[in-house]
Amino acid sequence: MNQDELLRWRRHLHAHPELSFHEHETARFVEETLRSFGLTPTRPVPTGVMARLRKGPGPTLALRADMDALPIQEETDLPFRSQVPGVMHACGHDGHTAILLGVAQTLSEEPFSGEVRFLFQPAEELFPGGAESMVEAGVLEGVDAVLGLHLDATRPSGLIQIKSGPLQAAPDTFEIEIRGTGGHAAYPHLLVDPIAIAAEAILALQQVVSRHNDPLEPLVLSVTQIHGGSADNVIPPSVRLGGTVRSFNEELRRKVPEWMERILAGICQAHGGEYRLHYQRGYRPVVNPPELTERVRAILTDAGFQVEEARPVMGGEDFSAYQARVPGVFFFLGAGGPGYPHHHPRFQIDESSLQVGVQAFVALVRRLLAEGLSSD
Ligand code: NI
Repeated sequence: MNQDELLRWRRHLHAHPELSFHEHETARFVEETLRSFGLTPTRPVPTGVMARLRKGPGPTLALRADMDALPIQEETDLPFRSQVPGVMHACGHDGHTAILLGVAQTLSEEPFSGEVRFLFQPAEELFPGGAESMVEAGVLEGVDAVLGLHLDATRPSGLIQIKSGPLQAAPDTFEIEIRGTGGHAAYPHLLVDPIAIAAEAILALQQVVSRHNDPLEPLVLSVTQIHGGSADNVIPPSVRLGGTVRSFNEELRRKVPEWMERILAGICQAHGGEYRLHYQRGYRPVVNPPELTERVRAILTDAGFQVEEARPVMGGEDFSAYQARVPGVFFFLGAGGPGYPHHHPRFQIDESSLQVGVQAFVALVRRLLAEGLSSD
């Protein structure tokens, strides 16, 4: 396919980022571009786009891209930097969208037998995510398998990383309110101080990972927010904490809030305070089914791509919503830029990775459709 066009799409999307569930212009751009290839896109959800490309009998393979940007003020000096204050494509989803458009264009011009279904979903970055609503709207009806990728600016451009089994963690979140009584800071003996209790609770919660969890089981518990107090001489009546828990194992995932409750209850009781824990389960973990994953790995290797074993990461991905319904494989595509991490105001990708992404998906479509998918 035409590399210039691929870059034009990606740069247009980069300059016009939209936040999760607000991808109105992005969805319109995707629809228009798909129509220019002769496809007939639909909107299964308000800011999600689907297009079907069927040529002859055969299985149906879905390909997924996410389209949302982040609430970050871009600090690059790229000529196509974000034109929207405070919003930036800082995770590469502009690249994912451009790649999938490139695949749609390429496949619309060449013969194959079966169906390719293009899923452009909203809101990967914001729970409950766009994938679940796309699935509920029926985008997987008749689909035999689904593939997705994520650009990885921390790895060399063009390098594909894949693995069977757990790849990305379940990202749960929590809010804790610790209540004391508050009062004059000069008379701590007359009150219950929620700040002192919260400090102890934050430290004790570290022991969920270091003392309660099996060291061979991946687990993260991070307290990421503390809100409380507004004056030097006033102890506030309550403190709010927030944070995230990341895990792969469902049994462990159920135990963590119980351990947290026990710690919070013990510390609050010791000091006469009270607490409320609100634990929110996030996306399921991304787990690649071995059989299809090994087929994908073999096809990519045969086709001459540079492929290596991925390491699991504790970041979450709502691609798991598709995997919960049909066999689905997710992999990483190196897009090594100047070294800033994802979600950073100076995040950049190496754009030559986009062409590799298109070629990888096209190679997978050709072989998987020709060789058949399990439910045929
Ligand atoms: Ni991302």
